[in-house]
Amino acid sequence: MRICCIGAGYVGGPTMTMVARKCPDIRVDVVDVSAARIAAWNSDNLPVFEPNLDGLVREVRGKNLFFSTDIEECIDKADIVFISVNTPTKTYGYGAGSASDLSYVEACSRTIARASKTGKIVVEKSTMPVRTADVIKTILASSGRKFQVLSNPEFLAEGTAVRDLESPDRVLIGGDEDSEEGRRAIETLASVYARWVPEERIIKTNLWSSELSKLTANAFLAQRISSINAISALCEATGADVDQVAKAVGSDSRIGSSFLKSSVGYGGSCFQKDLLNLIYLCEHFNLPQVAQYWRGVVEMNAFQKKRFSSNVVEGLFRNISGKRLAIFGFAFKENTNDTRESPAIDICKDFLSEHAKLAFYDPKVSKAQICADLGIEENDPRVEFCDSPYAAAEGAHAIVLLTHWDEFKKLDYAKIRKSMTTPAWIFDGRNCLDHRLLIGLGFLVRGIGKGNLS
Ligand code: UDX
Ligand code: UDX
Repeated sequence: MRICCIGAGYVGGPTMTMVARKCPDIRVDVVDVSAARIAAWNSDNLPVFEPNLDGLVREVRGKNLFFSTDIEECIDKADIVFISVNTPTKTYGYGAGSASDLSYVEACSRTIARASKTGKIVVEKSTMPVRTADVIKTILASSGRKFQVLSNPEFLAEGTAVRDLESPDRVLIGGDEDSEEGRRAIETLASVYARWVPEERIIKTNLWSSELSKLTANAFLAQRISSINAISALCEATGADVDQVAKAVGSDSRIGSSFLKSSVGYGGSCFQKDLLNLIYLCEHFNLPQVAQYWRGVVEMNAFQKKRFSSNVVEGLFRNISGKRLAIFGFAFKENTNDTRESPAIDICKDFLSEHAKLAFYDPKVSKAQICADLGIEENDPRVEFCDSPYAAAEGAHAIVLLTHWDEFKKLDYAKIRKSMTTPAWIFDGRNCLDHRLLIGLGFLVRGIGKGNLS
């Protein structure tokens, strides 16, 4: 068997590496229109930072895992073709700001139709709006060859991708359950995962349930974060501590404790895009009340980011003009170099609009990426990029912690405190530092949902 995956991104790259690792007899080709991305996957400097991914890639690359720009040839030789290209929110025309832009998916479908001399199984790996499989099917059918389209959404989270792929809670495969060929295609794909995933964790459904389950899973996860963030605002007003509330509430086994960590807001390439897409679908199907319900989750996230940046300005005597703020972390979460939809982007833009000076430190995000995200030049006099958190904090009026990198917990804050301008503030946007200890060192501290602090 041969597999080809179109799209060598945060999803396609790690997922196919795991497939190759677990199925030594299957040749896996990962192809991409970006020659630079493919070159990076073939180098020692992978385009995606993920814990433990480097070693895994080294084990299989050149054996049964290949990264290439030979898109059509790899498609033609494959039995199964995964589509793992990006599906960003549409920025223009009909559905702008909420619908998914499916132009890459359509282009891939046309390429598959053109390049394939024989019929194949085509798998939607990218998160798609419900009924996208129809679009793919219609384009493929025009080629005159027989294709089966499956939906097999990926649930990995960045930063824990290798672990999630190795031991997924479930693998979801949606297909045409009503036809013999459809059922056979589902079984073929299931047999690939069954090499390492227990049978009972492989869920088989119809196409539309699979597509909708992925959107729903992300919407539920985002909803939990917005729910606890909503409560964090109330904690600040009442003197409660959101971490204590989350613990008490999450100990109820019906509720569960994960995804109740209050923060500056969720980021990442999926939550916002998928929620907007879900809202768009509800509106499209004339369900305005359902759309409004989910829109609340998005609005709460925007409110949380704004609330945080206002709290910083407020704490610094309502004036941050010309003041140095040390920005600890820019990635949307720890253990990744990804900044897509990172809350740090909106928050830092707010600071810049208040004429602050920003000194950045993130262990994995590049200066070029931060500037691109903020829409500024690399030599902009308002920003500085530091090699260590200590350098960023030097002379700063405040530390603003935006990403939960482990190293921030282990710093010598007594030393940092001495190098800062006084009064020295720490705004802990992830509630990951020891606030009592910091107050003892002379910092003014503000966390999220910590109504009991100074
Ligand atoms: C993306 C989506 O964000 C996610 O919702 C979906 O589930 C999977 O695809 P990700 O892998 O993180 O996830 O995207 P990205 O890192 O942008 O990678 C997509 C890759 O596809 C890029 O390398 C891009 O060059 C490539 N691509 C895009 C193609 O090869 N062909 C195209 O026509 C378009
Ligand atoms: C998410 C889903 O978890 C994954 O299943 C799906 O395939 C893709 O989208 P990802 O965006 O990579 O994964 O990371 P995730 O761990 O879900 O975090 C998303 C955002 O929520 C981050 O900004 C994170 O910091 C934030 N978050 C997460 C919180 O603020 N609080 C929490 O309790 C958990």
